[in-house]
Amino acid sequence: MITFDTAKEILEKYGQEHILAYYDALDGQEKEKLLSQIELTDFSVLENLVAENRHSSKRGKFSPLGAVTIEDIEKNREKYYTTGAEALKKGKVATVLLAGGQGTRLGFDKPKGMFNIGVTRELYIFECLMNNLKKVADDTGAEIPLYIMTSEKNHDDTVNFFEEKNYFGYNKKYVKFFIQDMSPSADFNGKIYMESRSDISISPNGNGGWFSSVVRAGLLRDIKKKGVEWINVFAVDNVLQKMADPCFIGAVIESGSQAGSKVVSKVSAEERVGVLCLEDGKPSIVEYYEMTDEMRTLMTADGELAYKYGVILNYLFSVDRLEEIVEEKMPVHVVEKKIPYMDGEGKYVIPEKNNGYKFETLVLDMVHLQDSCLPYEVVRSEEFAPVKNADGVDSVETARTLLKFNGIEI
Ligand code: UTP
Repeated sequence: MITFDTAKEILEKYGQEHILAYYDALDGQEKEKLLSQIELTDFSVLENLVAENRHSSKRGKFSPLGAVTIEDIEKNREKYYTTGAEALKKGKVATVLLAGGQGTRLGFDKPKGMFNIGVTRELYIFECLMNNLKKVADDTGAEIPLYIMTSEKNHDDTVNFFEEKNYFGYNKKYVKFFIQDMSPSADFNGKIYMESRSDISISPNGNGGWFSSVVRAGLLRDIKKKGVEWINVFAVDNVLQKMADPCFIGAVIESGSQAGSKVVSKVSAEERVGVLCLEDGKPSIVEYYEMTDEMRTLMTADGELAYKYGVILNYLFSVDRLEEIVEEKMPVHVVEKKIPYMDGEGKYVIPEKNNGYKFETLVLDMVHLQDSCLPYEVVRSEEFAPVKNADGVDSVETARTLLKFNGIEI
């Protein structure tokens, strides 16, 4: 472990000496804990607070990208399904559930997947996802591995919940958990928050590091041993999420693309969703806040939005390509969040408003590291019911309505 002097040196370099303010008053164990946290923390993320270092100031030239549309898919459904189901049956596809987020907007203090979205019965978000996965496994007769990414903050709760609920009837043998990395959180002046006198405030470092965390957890060996060639990555908070979708997998394989992304047609130019397009000729996702008004409203000759296809965090990546890019540096996004912290009097405060920044890498940036990525359009009302907020848009209420619309008893 590093010494006090080395820790001080590191902190001075980043203007974070306040982290050691209470050092002398700590007991031996607490001192060790704090030094080890300083050693393990990547302070370089703070460099992203400088405007010109921000990812958004380094973007290339965007141009629109068309998709395999719902009509195209209907025409080729049988072919896509057969190809995808065969890949699944041969064990070539695994799934990765990204469940390391903190779901601060929902304001639920357990892992988001443990949220009961049911009204007249218990129906957990994890359960919705497992039901969908089970259906594909049953329909195709495939054994589909599921790797679940958690964070240090929600790992035990998540694993215990799956155990308690008997994996919602899914074969436990195919489910494995792994833990993502953490990153420090800072106030609006770039000073890292403390959670206590001996704890730096850290939070999950975004969903972009999922594959390097898979590798670090030793799971790549498992993936290769099973002969997996494709990994379907998806978010926890879409209760209509269709993962390991045979048609989607089949369409990507048939197209010869290196990757695929499920997309929905945007409801309006203003919808706050990332759009799959080209950046300097390579597939890329532009976030809604990065789009200029001109880009947002640009129309094609057919009267459609040129930047039309929004992503729903359901991607298919090839294992070969993931291995090639695992060492690539991903852009760090600076995100405003509510960060619990210790105040000047040593009191633990849970803020009501955003009070600082977290630093996250995002899985959507992996798309730009692919030579090609097939946008695959899905019917929004059947596949996209995000639970982001407690009420309003993309909330528990809107997701419940969509579950009912799809004939799911809640
Ligand atoms: P969000 O971007 O919605 O973040 O995650 P969040 O932390 O869950 O929620 P808010 O913003 O605090 O309200 C999209 C998906 O990525 C996962 C989430 O669990 C969700 O499935 N995620 C997010 C991670 O796995 N790790 C992270 O560090 C962040």
